[in-house]
Amino acid sequence: MVDYNGRMGSVYVAGRRMAPEEVRRWSAALAAYLPEKRPVQILDLGSGSGRLTPGLAEEFQGPVYGVEPSDRMRETAEQSAVHPSVTYLKGSAEDIPLPEATVDGVLMFLSFHHFPDQLKALQEVRRVLRPGGVAFLRSQFSDLMPDLFWYDYFPSAQVVDAGMYRSVAEVKALAREAGLEPAEDVVHVTTETSRTLRESYERLSLRALSTFEYLPADEIESGFERFAADVARDPDRVMPVYSAAMLVMTRPS
Ligand SMILES: C[S@@+](CC[C@H](N)C(=O)[O-])C[C@H]1O[C@@H](n2cnc3c(N)ncnc32)[C@H](O)[C@@H]1O
Repeated sequence: MVDYNGRMGSVYVAGRRMAPEEVRRWSAALAAYLPEKRPVQILDLGSGSGRLTPGLAEEFQGPVYGVEPSDRMRETAEQSAVHPSVTYLKGSAEDIPLPEATVDGVLMFLSFHHFPDQLKALQEVRRVLRPGGVAFLRSQFSDLMPDLFWYDYFPSAQVVDAGMYRSVAEVKALAREAGLEPAEDVVHVTTETSRTLRESYERLSLRALSTFEYLPADEIESGFERFAADVARDPDRVMPVYSAAMLVMTRPS
């Protein structure tokens, strides 16, 4: 388990910052699956430091709930991701502090793989969604792992990452068991803003990714040494932009 009340909580905001246009692109990507009416009510499940939460309130004109179990992450959100239509609540995916049929959409943005009981979590998602509501599971999948450029520096990183995630078929089976209808295909969303090698190094060296919690210390050290040497040679090289995988699931009417 990654401890978001500890070191990760202190580096998350700087290491995982999203540019405002990236947040807008995500909100627009979700809007394509949700009703055109406003307001549309959204639950940001595992909202962390509130990286996306105020942007959702802007797009969908609130109210938006951010449910987050880590006190440190939630307090960061309450201080730095404030919006009049956003309410942050202490809670977990397995026990969502909202009544039945409250929201039109649920976003699980890189949080699902942290849920200890994923079936219970999806049953809870179904409970709080209105009939016809949509859940968005933005995640990696063990059978759809991207070939990230920085994996070259850390030989076990891709395998470590793949071990954190379930396959698409496994997640779809859980969704069906929970009473949600997964879409046939995983969608690929490109919202990332391109970064130089130096910018990528600056972010990654904060180790605000779960991957680094599981890598041996010597591999982290030697990887960042090689990475830094490449940055010194070629700091402005523009690095590839990756698309993000997202599974869309509907609560049947
Ligand atoms: C990688 S962060 C993502 C945060 C946010 N969605 C974002 O994209 O910035 C994962 C978050 O999931 C939260 N989390 C862990 N277990 C959870 C659970 N059982 N229910 C809800 N959230 C959980 C963590 O505390 C952490 O804030």
